Amino acid sequence: MCAAPNWKKLGGAARTIVASDAEVSPCFEEVLALAVRRLYPEQPLRFEFTSGNLAWAKETIAKYPSGKQASAVISLLWRAQEQEGWCTEPAIRAVADMLGMAYIRVLEVATFYTMFQLQPVGSTAHIQVCGTTPCMLRGSEAVLEICKERIAENPHELSRDGRFSWEEVECLGCCANAPVVMIAKDTYEDLDPELFDKVLHGFEKGTPPKPGSQIGRQASCPLGGPTTLKDMVKKNAAKV
Ligand code: FES
Repeated sequence: MCAAPNWKKLGGAARTIVASDAEVSPCFEEVLALAVRRLYPEQPLRFEFTSGNLAWAKETIAKYPSGKQASAVISLLWRAQEQEGWCTEPAIRAVADMLGMAYIRVLEVATFYTMFQLQPVGSTAHIQVCGTTPCMLRGSEAVLEICKERIAENPHELSRDGRFSWEEVECLGCCANAPVVMIAKDTYEDLDPELFDKVLHGFEKGTPPKPGSQIGRQASCPLGGPTTLKDMVKKNAAKV
């Protein structure tokens, strides 16, 4: 048995550890599986934006001052991912060429942010489950268990029908509404096992639920409505 801590249980902080591939313990391999993001070995031969996306990309690049076109890198990578379903190596090269950036710099961006999928994901939904401390304390491990049961045993493994996949990620920035999952651009918040099950069913049936709090909170306001400045809230509501 490995005497090292259970890194998986430690959640986000432990996953910021970076190591070389050499001589890692079995426990550390678990960490590496979560921390190291590499290009998928099977890549398509080429990438081209569709004409609509190309026009959009040119407009987006033109928003930046001369010499600052590299600032469009995340927008273009995201659009490429939306088009292809995942962020392929040819897409990374194409974006670098469009922005006059070194390939390695765009690769660094694509491998750093977990919003970019470096391998094929479920065609209907790829579910990113936040496993960082607030979400873990509020039940994200139960959500992960449902992913394992309903989708696939391992992160990034496609479900049998190829429609779903999942992974654990770091903080999604909605900690006050923990636990949270992200699907494409949307977050589904205030989950518990039943509510997450409903979210999954919604995607399965082609009727995804409304993003945001799944218990009806407005953003991260108190469940029963405001508890302070109530008069001001009433006045503001009357003005709308
Ligand atoms: S810890 Fe889960 S959203 Fe921040």
